[in-house]
Amino acid sequence: MKENIIQHNYQIKRQDRLDANSHNSFLIWFTGLSGSGKSTLANLVEKKLFEIGVKTYSLDGDNIRKGINSDLTFAPEDRTENIRRIAEISNLMIDAGLVVLAAFVSPYKKDRENIRTIVKDVNFVEVYINTSVEECERRDVKGLYKKARAGEIKNMTGISAPYEVPEQPDIEINTERESIEISVEKIIDFITPKLKLNHE
Ligand code: ADX
Repeated sequence: MKENIIQHNYQIKRQDRLDANSHNSFLIWFTGLSGSGKSTLANLVEKKLFEIGVKTYSLDGDNIRKGINSDLTFAPEDRTENIRRIAEISNLMIDAGLVVLAAFVSPYKKDRENIRTIVKDVNFVEVYINTSVEECERRDVKGLYKKARAGEIKNMTGISAPYEVPEQPDIEINTERESIEISVEKIIDFITPKLKLNHE
C-alpha cells in the first residue's frame, strides 16, 4: 500500500508558513508522572507565547485520550501507540507552523526516542518535570493514586507501572524545589533562541 502513496508537491511549504508567522515551529514535550505539573506548566508557557504573538497549540490527555486515542488503554503497547500518534499529529502541526506543547506521562524511553525520530531532533525540546511519586501521590489531584493503591486502577505509572527517567532532557524542572514562575522562565529562556527564523 505504502509504495502507491505518492506525495503531492504543495505550493505552500513549511518555510512559507514560518515566514508568515515570523517564528519557527517545533515541539515542546513535557514528560513526568501523573500530577507532576506538566499540563499546568505547558499552559503557562503557552500563555506567555500567545501573548507575544506566537502561534501555538497544546495537546494533552484531555484532548487526545478522549478523542483520537479513545481506543487506547494504559498497557505498555497502547502507551507506545498513544505516543506515536501524538508525535505524528505534532509533526503535522510543526509543518503547519505551530509551536506545539504536548504534556504526556510518556514513561518509556524508547517511545520518547521515537518522538525525536518522527519530528526530527531539531524540532524537539524535551522537558522533564521531575516531581517525586511521593509528592504526586500527596497532591493526588485526580484521586488516581488512591485508586491505584486500592487496586482499582492497573498499570498506574509510579505505583504499578514504571517511569523511565530521561537521562539527558533539554530542560529539567523540579517542582518541589523551584517556583512555578522560575520554571516557566527557564523554559521560555531555552526556547526563545529557537523561535527565531534561520534567515533572520
Ligand atoms: S501515557 O503514559 O500514555 O503517556 P497519558 O499522558 O496519555 O499517558 O495519560 C496519562 C493520564 O491519564 C494521567 O495524567 C492520568 O490522569 C490518567 N491515567 C489513568 N490511568 C492511568 C494509569 N494507569 N497510569 C497513568 N496515568 C493514568
